[in-house]
Amino acid sequence: MDTYTIITGATSGIGLDLSKRLAKERNVILVGRNQEKLDFAISQVGDKHHVLGFACDLDSDRKAIATQLSEFILTNSIQIDSFVHCAGTSKVMAIRQAVTESVDTIFNVNILSAIEFIKLLLKKENKGALRNILLISSLASVRGEKGNSIYAASKGALNSLAVTLAKELAPKVRVNSISPGTVETPMTQDFIATEAGEKHLKDYPLGVGHCEDITNLACFLLSDSSRWITGQNIIIDGGRSTL
Ligand SMILES: NC(=O)c1ccc[n+]([C@@H]2O[C@H](COP(=O)([O-])OP(=O)(O)OC[C@H]3O[C@@H](n4cnc5c(N)ncnc54)[C@H](OP(=O)(O)O)[C@@H]3O)[C@@H](O)[C@H]2O)c1
Repeated sequence: MDTYTIITGATSGIGLDLSKRLAKERNVILVGRNQEKLDFAISQVGDKHHVLGFACDLDSDRKAIATQLSEFILTNSIQIDSFVHCAGTSKVMAIRQAVTESVDTIFNVNILSAIEFIKLLLKKENKGALRNILLISSLASVRGEKGNSIYAASKGALNSLAVTLAKELAPKVRVNSISPGTVETPMTQDFIATEAGEKHLKDYPLGVGHCEDITNLACFLLSDSSRWITGQNIIIDGGRSTL
């Protein structure tokens, strides 16, 4: 039975870059909400190993997604040994102006969907195959920034999930989170191009991050080279947090 790594948020930015790298060494399942973008991402990652696509909107009925994923695993006769939750969404809003629907979306995509995936991957459908969970959090989870409280809270929940699950699932499954500072991706490119963005990046001793900076760390955490690391939230921010 073939073993796969599943990556959410695989259609753009960090998730797409990571998918391309991982596909050079293992079978991957790319998760995206838009079939066209998903097909394009699949066409980008190469065919050295098996590449599958799983389409779902993470801001929708989570139980239905789990049922679909369960059927997907059974139909394809596969097992999943690694889960990377890279999907994320953000919206700058002061807490007083926070719209309930936007708060729900941020929590659905950033944390609640990850919990649903993990629950499913630990069930008998996946035949005890899960060995590694990697959650893409954010520097915002540990550093105060105006207008970012909801996004930061969702990412802080990911860090807490990682540290507690690391204990609950050891020694079989390792669980870590990565907290990047500002990385140039479709999520941040508009902001980076503004005057405020330029000013923001002056506080980055090593300048803005690139997707491959996060991919390098993610690949290490998904490999046996990091076999003694679990329950960690690793900040990668070009020195931003030294200031
Ligand atoms: N870039 C940064 O500076 C930075 C810093 C800290 C943390 N992060 C985190 O790193 C991760 C990747 O971010 P990125 O910068 O690469 O952003 P990105 O290019 O906007 O990618 C975000 C990914 O999440 C997917 N996604 C969003 N909402 C979804 C939904 N409802 N259902 C399914 N998928 C959904 C997107 O799908 P579509 O392609 O369909 O939009 C896309 O694949 C995120 O978790 C983000 O919070 C980024």
